Amino acid sequence: MRRLALLGSLLAVLIIVTSCGRHATVSEIAVVPEPVFVLQKEGSFTIKDNPRISLVGLGQNSPTARYVMSSLRHGHLHPSMVASGKNSDIEMVILDTANPELGEEGYLLEVRSSGVRMSANTERGLFYAYQTLIQMLPPDARRIHYRAITLPECTILDYPRFEWRGAHLDVCRHYFPPKFIKKYIDVMALYKLNRFHWHLTDDHGWRLPSERHPKLNTIGSWRVYRDDQPWGEAEPPREGERATYGGFYNKEDIADIVQYAAERGIEVIPEVEMPGHVCALLAAYPQMACDYRGNKNEVNPYQVQIGPYWPPKAILCAGKDSTLIILGDILDEVLDLFPSSRYIHLGGDEAFKDNWEQCLKCQRRIRVERLRDEEELQTWFMAHMAAQATARGKQVIGWDEVVSETLRNNGDELADTLEGIITPPHSSLLTTNFIAMAWRGQQLGVEAAKSGHKVIMCPTDYCYLDYYQANPLFQPKSIGGMVTLEKAYSFEPVPVGTDSAAIQNILGGQCNLWTEYINTPSHAEYMFLPRMLAISESLWSPADRKDWNRFRRKIEEQKERLSARGYNYCEGSFEPQFTARRVDDHTMNISISTEVPNTYIFYTTDTSTPTRKSNIYLGPINLERGTHIKILPVYKDQERDTVYEYVIK
Ligand code: ACM
Ligand code: ZN
Repeated sequence: MRRLALLGSLLAVLIIVTSCGRHATVSEIAVVPEPVFVLQKEGSFTIKDNPRISLVGLGQNSPTARYVMSSLRHGHLHPSMVASGKNSDIEMVILDTANPELGEEGYLLEVRSSGVRMSANTERGLFYAYQTLIQMLPPDARRIHYRAITLPECTILDYPRFEWRGAHLDVCRHYFPPKFIKKYIDVMALYKLNRFHWHLTDDHGWRLPSERHPKLNTIGSWRVYRDDQPWGEAEPPREGERATYGGFYNKEDIADIVQYAAERGIEVIPEVEMPGHVCALLAAYPQMACDYRGNKNEVNPYQVQIGPYWPPKAILCAGKDSTLIILGDILDEVLDLFPSSRYIHLGGDEAFKDNWEQCLKCQRRIRVERLRDEEELQTWFMAHMAAQATARGKQVIGWDEVVSETLRNNGDELADTLEGIITPPHSSLLTTNFIAMAWRGQQLGVEAAKSGHKVIMCPTDYCYLDYYQANPLFQPKSIGGMVTLEKAYSFEPVPVGTDSAAIQNILGGQCNLWTEYINTPSHAEYMFLPRMLAISESLWSPADRKDWNRFRRKIEEQKERLSARGYNYCEGSFEPQFTARRVDDHTMNISISTEVPNTYIFYTTDTSTPTRKSNIYLGPINLERGTHIKILPVYKDQERDTVYEYVIK
């Protein structure tokens, strides 16, 4: 068994422990995401535990230099800075003359017999060179002190395929503390993701601080505690029950997180949902809803939601000027909190318009603005808010619903089938320059790109990390769906057949983590790891550098790396996968594997229940048609899932 384990793994670190300490020799480079070009050579260089660092073109106090020093210390090393030109072990160079191939984020990493040299056009490039270097160190280097680490001589040339490499986190359905947000940012940085999409307002909580609208925090940030009950079965609040679950980030938290992210090459994109997903906002300010008249005796029908809330019919009134003015003021305050963000996400998804159909003011707005219907009223509403953000120099992003109206008005057939019947083009507002976040399907993203919108791809069927990742019977309860690691890895942001003009408009993609069913940091980690790595490789690496078999073996090493950094993760799907070849009329030749390398497959063909004493699968087997095969997966010395049972047909 041990021999098999070695064959299945890519882990190629030899560790020798002597009286002087541990010495690791790394013989294979297994970095995620896969670099553009790797040339491994014969020689080697040994980094001792007191490496000398020299800088060219950047100062000792630059964020990247400080980050590298602090990170090396976390890896139990004792680095020191030496003047450039002196002998050093690791040299970091901002190139005098920019290398156009490297762009803003690319780098060159060379390990030579004389030392390590990282060079780039920018600090960001050097930051990524360093992330690659630390992934060349033994995976447990964060946990264990190595006296010396010998690296293979190599040249790595690397730069990203897409500029937008994002990860989203919903902190509304459950609140996650700043410490965890930083841990999320850390892992994004390790895998070269560069956009943190922070979903900060929704039906279940308002997580932004507000001085001008304090009820957003005193009311909108809190809900009745129900985490002792399954999300899907949460009891409604009882009369007089206090709202004790939730919280919000204060100004200092936000400034600190934005700076922390920036030092790691990550831009924070705050999201403020509108016109739907607004229960928390309406719980605080019900006068912004259609059906609330603000009479003294009127009871606020809106509450910060607990548990499932579907269909989410609460919606801001698009007919009241006061709603637009208050929302504009809220948005202004949010923009002040994120001065360095170039983008603001204005939501726009799943806005149910039942209230608008009944509301006299919304209907009046439709008439006065000569809009076609409630769908176009949403376009008008979003355009109105977008104009405010644009006037402050921000680029606006919306979920793909925001552009499907534009597509419909362009006579687009796909949008037609998605949303309903088209009437002739109308409205100057439709030129609004939303970046579309394509979540309901990649084809919608392609259509938006064709119509001139910039697009970020995050289709549910590849990028939703709240979906199950393995057999639901053996996984924590999730919202549903199924995105295995392999499926996430097959994410191709530019679908085959996309025309070249549209390709230019696809900025990249991202993974999304909604947290209805996820209420602890550890569970969140379990959901996004390791699938976030699959999305990262799809967004960074050239398509022809991707290789599922190599990736799944790299993941085994990355799991150790993540574990040494204190992350939880999912081991993967142990459901057997088959390929079959016909031998003759009665016999099939069957290959069996699982997504996870180093899984031992024990099996029986006599209907008995397999145990670890049964046959072990070592390679393709011939089985008669009609045979019952029962399979027991064993991984890391533990029986996984269950006995799977199949009949060969
Ligand atoms: C979404 O998942 N509702 C954008
Ligand atoms: Zn209304």
